Amino acid sequence: MSGAVPSSFLALPSIDETLAREVQEGLEQVEKVLRETVTASDPMLTEAATHLLSAGGKRFRATLVLLAAHFGDPTAPELIRAAAVIELTHVATLYHDDVMDEAELRRGELSANQRWGNSIAILTGDYVFARASEMLADLGTDAVRMQARTFGRLVQGQILETSGPRGGTDPISHYLQVIADKTASLIASAAEFGAMFGRAEPEVVDTITRACDALGMAFQLSDDILDVASETSDSGKVPGTDLREGVLTLPMFYAQRSTDPEDARLRELLGRPLDDAETDEALRLLRAHPALKEARTSLQAWADKARAELATLPQGAPRSAFEAICDYVVERSG
Ligand code: IPE
Ligand code: IPE
Ligand code: MG
Ligand code: MG
Repeated sequence: MSGAVPSSFLALPSIDETLAREVQEGLEQVEKVLRETVTASDPMLTEAATHLLSAGGKRFRATLVLLAAHFGDPTAPELIRAAAVIELTHVATLYHDDVMDEAELRRGELSANQRWGNSIAILTGDYVFARASEMLADLGTDAVRMQARTFGRLVQGQILETSGPRGGTDPISHYLQVIADKTASLIASAAEFGAMFGRAEPEVVDTITRACDALGMAFQLSDDILDVASETSDSGKVPGTDLREGVLTLPMFYAQRSTDPEDARLRELLGRPLDDAETDEALRLLRAHPALKEARTSLQAWADKARAELATLPQGAPRSAFEAICDYVVERSG
């Protein structure tokens, strides 16, 4: 990918063309701000900090900020910076997440940890986050507080995932808490920032935030399903990374519940680090297991929950665009 602004959602047939064009124009401005913001005086730091931006990415969260602003005034001056802050927060977490997950590929390129080692990857994530925070300061103390809370939840989600469920906690409830914190929190904040800085009515801000909280759950579920189901690296990541690292996701929790003796080998492979041959074996077994379909049913339920929230918003192009994104999130998982 070239690093040009991708427009995959905006090209969805059910998204109004004028709305799509306006959001696309906004994304082009966001792109400039993203690059300017992470440019450092040190060339090595600039290279590491622009690495993931140049590699591509969907700009999903920046798109949500700009789309949500259309429930109010999409020309409000803070919006481009708000979208850049949300996207940079996301990018910073990707640097750190790839260290934690020992990921090799991100956005179709070598991950920063593979390319420069863990220390540089961690520091680059910190730097990107610091630059985002500096820009956020110009958006006012309320925005700083909101984003700090979201970032705290995100970190909590990553820690909960790493530490696993405590004795007595239902593993699936634990997983849902993990994805609510590590992913849905930022996706909901994206919509909240967009609607808030667009000065939408307070009840509209609350509703779109709730809708995108459910959309964020669906988004992470579809990412977790793709990690199992995808036969290619089209996502820009290596399928099977969760299995290899022993990170348990919903399809795996469903498979773990099986008492069928035929599933004994699969159950034995879940939740511990695997070598290459074991990862391939686990992928093959899980792809053929009904647990994958069960996880898709849960994904659909979260997308339906998001749609139910959206149904209470005023009808029009912005609402239809969010509805189309709910469908996209389900369909992308195959
Ligand atoms: C990846 O997010 C991390 C998750 C929360 C699933 P995206 O799928 O939005 O990644 P990019 O930004 O397109 O690379
Ligand atoms: C990503 O979680 C969540 C954050 C970056 C906070 P994952 O580890 O599931 O995401 P991918 O699959 O690596 O993108
Ligand atoms: Mg990861
Ligand atoms: Mg992870």
